[in-house]
Amino acid sequence: MFEVVVLAAGRSSRFKTGIPKVFHRLLDKPILGYVLDTIECIEPDRIYVVINPSMESEASKLFGNKFHWVCQQEPLGTGHAFQQVLPHLQEDSYVLIVTGDSPLLSADILKRAKLLAERELVIVTADMENPKGYGRIVRDHNGTVTSIVEDCDANESQQTITEINSGIIGGPANLIAELLRGATHANSQNEIYLTEIARLAADRGEKVHTVAVGDPMEVLGINDRSQLAEVEQILLNRCRHEVMLAGTTLRDPLRFDLRGKLKTGIDCTIDVNVIIEGEVTLGDRTYIGPGCILRDVKIGDDVSIQAYSILDSAIVGNRCSIGPFARIRPDTDIGEDSRIGNFVEIKNSKLGKRVRASHLAYLGDATLGDNVNIGAGAVTCNFDGQSKHETMIGEDVFIGTNSTLVAPLYIEAESFIAAGSTITHDVKERALVVGRSRQRSIKRWNPPSRRKK
Ligand code: UD1
Ligand code: CA
Repeated sequence: MFEVVVLAAGRSSRFKTGIPKVFHRLLDKPILGYVLDTIECIEPDRIYVVINPSMESEASKLFGNKFHWVCQQEPLGTGHAFQQVLPHLQEDSYVLIVTGDSPLLSADILKRAKLLAERELVIVTADMENPKGYGRIVRDHNGTVTSIVEDCDANESQQTITEINSGIIGGPANLIAELLRGATHANSQNEIYLTEIARLAADRGEKVHTVAVGDPMEVLGINDRSQLAEVEQILLNRCRHEVMLAGTTLRDPLRFDLRGKLKTGIDCTIDVNVIIEGEVTLGDRTYIGPGCILRDVKIGDDVSIQAYSILDSAIVGNRCSIGPFARIRPDTDIGEDSRIGNFVEIKNSKLGKRVRASHLAYLGDATLGDNVNIGAGAVTCNFDGQSKHETMIGEDVFIGTNSTLVAPLYIEAESFIAAGSTITHDVKERALVVGRSRQRSIKRWNPPSRRKK
């Protein structure tokens, strides 16, 4: 049996947070999610995750029920955390113990460690240019590992050691358990360190193997928010690189944030400060202007999304132009060749082809046919204070400027609503509807200010 134990229960004191550290997000996923996804790639028979009581209710909600959650009541150290899993482990299993705060781990290093862990103790190490904060690997003159010394317990000469413990330790579970029985709290944090097994094994003449990661970046641990940002930038740079290799121009890669999945056609251009979340698809030759936020949208070919537009859960047809400053809310489907201009908000609406809503309008719960023109300031009044109502507008309808369309409402094809109208009744038979008070003129009127006392 090959089992993996993930340690995620520690206190998050360096993080200064009210939520468990490993639940903090990196791009679109909690830190722990990255670790678990990588571990799943190497297909262990079981994955245990050691969590603390404050994580219990959220853990399975966030990650499902395929993991075995084991609670460590108090954070008494990484060795103590592993001991909580011992009663659950299978007889004669061999384990890999992985820290839950190293999201850049690769499946490759886990596979290499796994091969050794079946037979003997193995520690995954890295050579860190700046080893501050990590446990140092101490070796004797023969190069044999004699102990791991934590940063806070290391003396001056040990602090200069750049070979560090990645936090991944493996071996036969019984052997690790037995060695840990000799571990004490005699350290600056008064904890039972898992790393003690290096010293205890050396004392017994037990061989400790090390495998070094090729790229030390892989084992970066996240202990504080500055490291969270550092790791997020590494992940972002990978995404940016992939997007560009897939044929999209990023005007400034460092000012592009991909926090989800992006599928692009050819020759797309993305301007600065764009944020992509969820699943976004861009058709060929699509342009995304500066400052746009796109979440779960499907955009067709030759579309231009202009500066500072926000689109969420929407479909945009080929050759549309959206924005600047447009807000497209969930369940909106905009037909081909439509133009949605500045300060237009659309929600839960289906627009036909060649619709124009060029400025300052609100369309909510509406269905529009082809070639509809929505004048500036036109608004669907879809809410009566209690329920939402629909507006249906047939093709070739002209809605004049500042029209107020009180839903539920049906406006038949080819109707013409005069500017400034308030429409409360259905419009039929290709009517021109003027729903406003008549203009009155009172000639040579003297306003009170001009009247003689
Ligand atoms: C740990 C290692 C250190 C290594 C570094 C690699 C120990 C004592 N130190 O240090 O040698 O270089 O990782 O990143 O093992 N945890 C628990 N219960 C606890 C304490 C911790 O589950 O009681 C979990 C934490 O949630 C975390 C992981 O174990 O995911 C490591 O703990 P952390 O406090 O981050 O240890 P480091 O100081 O980073
Ligand atoms: Ca850590």
